[in-house]
Amino acid sequence: MSRIHDYSSLFSLAGKTAVVTGGSRGLGLHAATGLILAGCTKLVITSRNADACADAVKSLRSLSTGAIVLSLPANLSSPSEVERFVKELTPMTDGRVDILIANAGATWGESFDTHSDAAFDKVMNLNVRSVFNLIRLCTPLLEGAVKRSGEKARVITVGSIAGLQVGAIGEHGTYGYAASKAAVLHLTKHLAIELGPRGILLNAIAPGLFPSKMTGAIIARSGGEESLGKESPNGRLGKPEDIVGSVVFLCSRAGEHVNGAVLPIDGGKHVVPSWVKL
Ligand SMILES: NC(=O)c1ccc[n+]([C@@H]2O[C@H](COP(=O)([O-])OP(=O)(O)OC[C@H]3O[C@@H](n4cnc5c(N)ncnc54)[C@H](OP(=O)(O)O)[C@@H]3O)[C@@H](O)[C@H]2O)c1
Repeated sequence: MSRIHDYSSLFSLAGKTAVVTGGSRGLGLHAATGLILAGCTKLVITSRNADACADAVKSLRSLSTGAIVLSLPANLSSPSEVERFVKELTPMTDGRVDILIANAGATWGESFDTHSDAAFDKVMNLNVRSVFNLIRLCTPLLEGAVKRSGEKARVITVGSIAGLQVGAIGEHGTYGYAASKAAVLHLTKHLAIELGPRGILLNAIAPGLFPSKMTGAIIARSGGEESLGKESPNGRLGKPEDIVGSVVFLCSRAGEHVNGAVLPIDGGKHVVPSWVKL
């Protein structure tokens, strides 16, 4: 019989300090909820909108786990704001970040002929450059957590299945977005090798379509949630629990030997060949 060391704590995040960018709504708020429910004792969320952050903090505190939940609004599109964010994060976290979820992102859909440099720049800047800068500047805090806990720190980047396969072209083409998501998946693999020896594990999630503010218009013009869900082998779109389960696994002891991985969370949609009609 194999001996499993303390199964009851395998998925626990008890005592961890976590940071979630874009934690005010959507997938970031799902991730933040999971981290709190799995036992994190301190959580800092960020987005540009201070009121939206305050509302999210309120809803996370209402989970009544006793965790300290704080917000630190910042516009992560700007390198100087990323710097300010990390500077102010340092005393808030006592120099210790066990878990960083680099989730904040933006999309842009427009036809190829008018798809501007500004549109391309906006998504590459937030979805790739700021993720790199954030992870780089947070590394001392992640190392601070490793030193104090003796356990691996975790970074999860948020890619997309749009970074694994060709997504929208035509009128609502997401040329820059798809390129940015492919880039962040590749970046994650590089950083897994760079930071693994320093005790920091990096993995990416690649969600399929989840209802959120970002995807509301896409879902509405493409036939609605039920009909779009049928394009996936498991017959539905993503749910909050799908993000929670994956994030908690990757951040817990259960995920301690997973590094440099890309985890698609799409019910298998990305493996369906174009000639197969479900
Ligand atoms: N929903 C999906 O189907 C899906 C699928 C694959 C991947 N993803 C990825 O998952 C992540 C979250 O997407 P979502 O659907 O939850 O989108 P969302 O509802 O639009 O949420 C995006 C979050 O990021 C924040 N944010 C946006 N720009 C920011 C900036 N410049 N600085 C700081 N925070 C910023 C937003 O708050 P503010 O606007 O207040 O700043 C919000 O909290 C993104 O990286 C997205 O590409 C989503």
